[in-house]
Amino acid sequence: MSSTPIDNAAIEARVKALLPAERQLYAERRPKARAMAERKGKGLFDNVPMHWMLDWPMPFPMVIEQASGVHLTDIDGNAVVDLCLGDTGAMFGHGPEPILEVLRNAGHRGLTTMLPSADAEIVGELLAARFGLPHWQIGATASDANRFAIRVARAVTGRRKILVFDGCYHGAVDDTLVDLVNGRTFSRASLLGQVVDLGETTIAIPFNDEEALRNALVSGEVACVLAEPVMTNCGMILPAPGFHDTLRRLTREHGTLLLIDETHTISTGLGGYTMLHGLEPDLMVMGKPIGGGVPVSVWGMSAEVAEGLDRARRARDSHGHSGIGTTLSGSALQLACLRASLEKVMTSGTYATMAARTDIIEAGLIKAIGAQGLPWHVTRVGARLEVVFSSEPVRNAAEAREAASSVIEEGLHLSLLNRGFLLTPFHNMILVSPALAEAQAQALVAAYGEILARFCQAGEAA
Ligand SMILES: Cc1ncc(COP(=O)(O)O)c(C=O)c1O
Repeated sequence: MSSTPIDNAAIEARVKALLPAERQLYAERRPKARAMAERKGKGLFDNVPMHWMLDWPMPFPMVIEQASGVHLTDIDGNAVVDLCLGDTGAMFGHGPEPILEVLRNAGHRGLTTMLPSADAEIVGELLAARFGLPHWQIGATASDANRFAIRVARAVTGRRKILVFDGCYHGAVDDTLVDLVNGRTFSRASLLGQVVDLGETTIAIPFNDEEALRNALVSGEVACVLAEPVMTNCGMILPAPGFHDTLRRLTREHGTLLLIDETHTISTGLGGYTMLHGLEPDLMVMGKPIGGGVPVSVWGMSAEVAEGLDRARRARDSHGHSGIGTTLSGSALQLACLRASLEKVMTSGTYATMAARTDIIEAGLIKAIGAQGLPWHVTRVGARLEVVFSSEPVRNAAEAREAASSVIEEGLHLSLLNRGFLLTPFHNMILVSPALAEAQAQALVAAYGEILARFCQAGEAA
């Protein structure tokens, strides 16, 4: 145990000095990936299929040869244990066997017809039983599902505005890409090609702020509050005791619908945070791992919202585009994967394994942080863990931003990667798949402990 308390500024200084060697090691082990990154061809923009793959805290992206269970192998032959899991898309492990089985057979039955397949009825029943809401629709991504659910909320309530919490991320959904700056809501400064002032129809308030919520809803203009039950895209911010009760009570009082986005908090356990904590949303969205890694999302509605949607559809003058749905949504392939996922992958046994492994990692990280006397803590929602660089839990995005350090994040990320563990980029999230073995959980804890000790060794970095 260090005798004098260490602060984040001192750790940042040490990490800065350690980073060049970690970057060099990463690069030395990946000559093929480096050559690919340096080739400027005519095809993919910057040789990646999606531009943000360049934003990871790696000198250049590792290029994946194979992903299976919890293992990634890159084209240079490096093997790593995956704790990012495609930022939740592969939360149940890469290629769960029931999904592979569907994929082996699905093509022969037809991939997409723009008509329901025989799985539709059973999938609807499974979703209703698992997540509590009676009516469901299928999308391709969680971004899509959020967009459609917002449109439904506006159609049903006849209101223009929506409310989100500062620091949120609900996908590439224009209405939600806002920041709270000096008490006002603005389009997020980083957006590309943004021409509409999103602050005109979206209100952002701090998470856990009951007074701000009350003040925002009182005008009666807000169609829905869109919220993750635990904020997971700005570090990890837990709801204060009673906050969800207040959120539900105030939204009901003001005729505002409650739209819960469980895309990440589906890590909580069977039925998501909603079922485990008795939330009562009017609308609910999930994507990413729900189809076992195949592009599927779902959005559910209460009976009242579904009736309102019916009324709104009937009241239209024309039968043209509704703005809800995409051509490949609700396809036979998606329904088959959803069914296999709900019946055979997302089971109580799976969640029990995830929880047991996460227990090991949580206890180990707390011990490792304590051993160095670091002013940090660990937050958790089921199989999702976040190391936060503050001694006290953060209550909102402003506090989360204050606690964040991109330097320490990069240091942790690269040091762990060089020891065979892949973290989620842009924060310190560890996601635990059921494929992670107990020994791997223990090895991660040991590696984390060694890295923290290195970060805290006075003089080493000089
Ligand atoms: C809470 C939440 N909702 C929705 C999304 C959007 O998911 P997708 O990019 O798969 O559309 C994300 C993506 O990170 C998310 O974190």
